[in-house]
Amino acid sequence: MNKKIGLAIVGTGSISRLHTQGINRLDCAELVAVCDIHQEQLDWYTNLYPIAADRCYTDYDEMLKRDDVDAVIVCTNDTTHCYLSVRAMRAGKDVLCEKPMTLDINECREMVRVAEETGRRLMVGQVCRKTPAFVKAKELIDEGAIGELFFVESEYAHDYINSPGIDNWRKTPERHPIIGGGCHAVDLLRWIAGDPTEVFAYANHKMLQDWPIDDCVISVMKFPNNVIGKVFTSIGCKRRYTMRTVLYGSKGTIIVDNLSDTLSLFREKSDDDKGIPVLYQSSEIKIPVEVNSHNMEGEIRDFCNCIINNTPANPDGEQGLRTVAVCDAIVQSSKKGEKIEIDYSL
Ligand SMILES: NC(=O)c1ccc[n+]([C@@H]2O[C@H](COP(=O)([O-])OP(=O)(O)OC[C@H]3O[C@@H](n4cnc5c(N)ncnc54)[C@H](O)[C@@H]3O)[C@@H](O)[C@H]2O)c1
Repeated sequence: MNKKIGLAIVGTGSISRLHTQGINRLDCAELVAVCDIHQEQLDWYTNLYPIAADRCYTDYDEMLKRDDVDAVIVCTNDTTHCYLSVRAMRAGKDVLCEKPMTLDINECREMVRVAEETGRRLMVGQVCRKTPAFVKAKELIDEGAIGELFFVESEYAHDYINSPGIDNWRKTPERHPIIGGGCHAVDLLRWIAGDPTEVFAYANHKMLQDWPIDDCVISVMKFPNNVIGKVFTSIGCKRRYTMRTVLYGSKGTIIVDNLSDTLSLFREKSDDDKGIPVLYQSSEIKIPVEVNSHNMEGEIRDFCNCIINNTPANPDGEQGLRTVAVCDAIVQSSKKGEKIEIDYSL
């Protein structure tokens, strides 16, 4: 059997649990070390997922000295992603960095530069690209099931009231919701419809009154091929978490989200149908999909495979940067009240 990829996790907070469960289901990977600056977080984690004491670190640089660490999964607060990823790459480790890549586009540029300089793989955890329902939606679009796209919309509606993060890192002015959470919806639309060129956005602050940041943002944008789109983000809404997404094409429409066990396909009846079930116009075909909104197993499998097969990470640092660039333009637009052209420069 091939050698397993030795993975380390930095940041043993809430999302580290899903990464650990993902690693534990894979044959190609093993967890060899964990790190957190807070000893009590390490204790909390090791209570759930026992691991030898000499594999637990509060000093990140010490952990990076381990030869059995091939790659690091960065699961810390967004503001530390750049520093921790760069240190890992400079220590010769590949990196899977949680989304958002960072909150600051210049830090994204630095991460891309260091990945190039060091020749390390840098993958960004835009996990919607691994969510079975969204993968199915993209497959249907790519095989022409709904014809040519003309309008795409997605949303990130998630009540953060009880999720400020360890040390309240989500409750800070720099953690704008469109970058922190809405990046999922932006990345999903970019993956499906390409890179938007310009955005216009409005934001308000009515729900999380004691958070120092707007909590609701609506943005409209222009995509290539004259496709237009919309992303709605709310981190104070009173409903179950959802990323409801609607993709409108010339021959049909897809309605899909990350927590439903079916995807809805509306499709015009046509003669050139290739095995896709056809109903009459305005009828709905429900396609079963696995509910797996945080498919860390799939994400980590892809990450390990790109290391094993020496192929590029997907999505890589540049993709992560492009998503942050769109989010950054949305923030600027909501503040200035102006249309903003998106700057994707590296
Ligand atoms: N993919 C997703 O859908 C998804 C979902 C939730 C969170 N996230 C992302 O995962 C990251 C972590 O989120 P979370 O909810 O687990 O946060 P959390 O607050 O629960 O955990 C973060 C952990 O990082 C530790 N930490 C902070 N700075 C550190 C440092 N310099 N070195 C070592 N440890 C450090 C903290 O002590 C804490 O234990 C964020 O970037 C967040 O945006 C992604």
